[in-house]
Amino acid sequence: MNTADKEHQPCKIVGISGSLRSGSYTTLAVRLALKGAEELECQAKLIDLRDYQLLFCDGKDDESQFPKDVFRLREEVKQAHGIILGTPEYHGGYSGVLKNALDLMGFEEFEGKMLGLLGVSGGAMGAFGAMNSLREVGRALHAWVLPEQASIPQAWQEFDDAGNLKNPKLDERVRQVGFTMADSRALFRCSVNILSRDGFFW
Ligand SMILES: Cc1cc2nc3c(=O)[nH]c(=O)nc-3n(C[C@H](O)[C@H](O)[C@H](O)COP(=O)(O)O)c2cc1C
Repeated sequence: MNTADKEHQPCKIVGISGSLRSGSYTTLAVRLALKGAEELECQAKLIDLRDYQLLFCDGKDDESQFPKDVFRLREEVKQAHGIILGTPEYHGGYSGVLKNALDLMGFEEFEGKMLGLLGVSGGAMGAFGAMNSLREVGRALHAWVLPEQASIPQAWQEFDDAGNLKNPKLDERVRQVGFTMADSRALFRCSVNILSRDGFFW
């Protein structure tokens, strides 16, 4: 597929929630950000890791025993032009569930794509530890990490029973992550040729 063809593909954005908790605020936040992407007519899909039977990444090359959900996850992320990563703040970092999912993927899924970050926390300080670490992971995966990000401190008091954010400014900020990603999709297209060069290292 040449660059001109890629320019006419519909924009696809996936959001990965890094929490397996039933009623997760991270998952609610990712859903909201995806709605922001849909405002600019992008196709948006939530990847809820509870629906995927994965295994722990052990760094070995033999993938013959991998569950099929590993390949399903990879394919869905590969198809996307942009990826939103949502995570809870866990001990000042991002969740192990998300880390494992990222480690089961790599450049094929992320290189040259936009990455948007969202975090929720139980405490008042927000999810900056998690998001700052994810920003570095994005660089290692050769993704373009959006400057716009959203943190929801004390998430337990921010959502109503319908799963919407009560504070309209926070709601706007979360949606903005998906909206900005959709709005900036031309940046991805500019980089298609540069990133197909050989010899690009960490
Ligand atoms: C193992 C673990 C570690 C946590 N560490 C922090 C933390 O360092 N700072 C904080 O503000 N909240 C912390 N929390 C609270 C979570 O960020 C909070 O419960 C959040 O809502 C979880 O996300 P979820 O609703 O998507 O599951 C921690 C929770 C767990 C389970």
